[in-house]
Amino acid sequence: MEVVNVGLGERSYSIYIDRGLLLECGNKLPSLFSPPYKGGVSGGVGRKAVIITNPLIRGLYGNLLENSLKEEGFKVHFIEIPDGEGYKTLETAVKIYDRLIAIKMERESPLIALGGGVIGDITGFVAATYLRGVPYIQAPTTLLAQVDSSIGGKTAVNHPKGKNLIGAFYQPKAVFIDIETLNTLPKEEILCGAAEIIKYGIIRDGDFFEFLENNIERLINLNEDVLIYSIKRSCEIKADVVSKDEKESGLRAILNFGHTIGHALESLTGYKKYRHGEAVAIGMVYAARLSLKLGLCSSEDYKRVVNLITIAGLPTEIPPHPPLRPPLPLLQKEGIKGRSKGGRGGFVDAIINSLYLDKKVKEEKIRFVLMKGIGSVELRSDISNELIRKVLTH
Ligand code: NAD
Ligand code: GLY
Repeated sequence: MEVVNVGLGERSYSIYIDRGLLLECGNKLPSLFSPPYKGGVSGGVGRKAVIITNPLIRGLYGNLLENSLKEEGFKVHFIEIPDGEGYKTLETAVKIYDRLIAIKMERESPLIALGGGVIGDITGFVAATYLRGVPYIQAPTTLLAQVDSSIGGKTAVNHPKGKNLIGAFYQPKAVFIDIETLNTLPKEEILCGAAEIIKYGIIRDGDFFEFLENNIERLINLNEDVLIYSIKRSCEIKADVVSKDEKESGLRAILNFGHTIGHALESLTGYKKYRHGEAVAIGMVYAARLSLKLGLCSSEDYKRVVNLITIAGLPTEIPPHPPLRPPLPLLQKEGIKGRSKGGRGGFVDAIINSLYLDKKVKEEKIRFVLMKGIGSVELRSDISNELIRKVLTH
């Protein structure tokens, strides 16, 4: 088993990575608490544990996790929410609170998020707010959740006006990454995780990027050694960044490489055309192109990024005739006003407009994460709309 520590003082926790780890959850749980749970079997007896999941994942892995908890004496409850980003809402959170109140869930008992990033984000949000905070465990079952969303304590639900607008920073007690769960994950979802893994190489570790260049096909085909190493290295990089800047006052923003344009693409297409990782893949290509135009990276580095994303099987370009979702509350920025039209030109304008609606805009300046070669990035807020337009239309 691999273990990565997230160092955050008294809120520190471990990320465990192995095959078959869901079976170990029960016996690991009691020792995660301070003071550790005491009493029957290993401390679980008489204690409740609530697994939050969706029907699909419950059908695949619910029994495994439930049995592992029951063996340690935990009284297990399931709360199921419907599958999909559309249910990551306050309304769903309220339904979860209702159930927690109905089963008299008390402050010391854990919630366990069994699923992808949607389940992880909403469970973390409920954990942060129910009874002013209860412990929670992440048991991520998508590659994206295993290398990104389950780590670092960003919890959230969506608001009709935007993704993740309501949330809190609230760290889990532990993350249990069972790579066995990836065997049932559709290929497209594996690719989304791969996009975030590639991101870690670009932002922080040139050697890891090179490892991925040599092993991307093995990673996507779930070769055990490559998978475990890639998940571990990604977790180490995220843990290091989060432990230095938990609440994103600076450094943590580098984790958003590719996300600025990626988020705009997702939002403008109503979250229907692209999965998150696909939009991030395209966003990384444009961020790399912007870096090239600004002379921050060489054309060879730019080509390596495009090549790795391409051989991974991820998209690299916005399509010529992208579908727009119904009009956004567009900000009328200088140079954009009145320019929205159909086709790619209109879409590029809409992307630039949408960039100003991002949570990460500060004092009306769009913040880009740009690459300085491979393995290092910098934050820039001085990029003109003209240059963004040029890069998007090249
Ligand atoms: P997801 O949670 O929607 O899961 C994708 C699909 O895979 C779902 O249909 C799910 O039911 C299914 N699934 C999950 N595990 C499976 C398995 N083992 N086998 C078969 N099917 C399985 O999507 P995601 O990509 O995991 O997460 C996306 C969410 O994560 C978004 O809401 C995003 O905002 C959030 N996110 C959060 C952070 C953070 O730091 N908190 C970071 C990145 C993304
Ligand atoms: N996914 C970006 C972050 O956790 O900060």
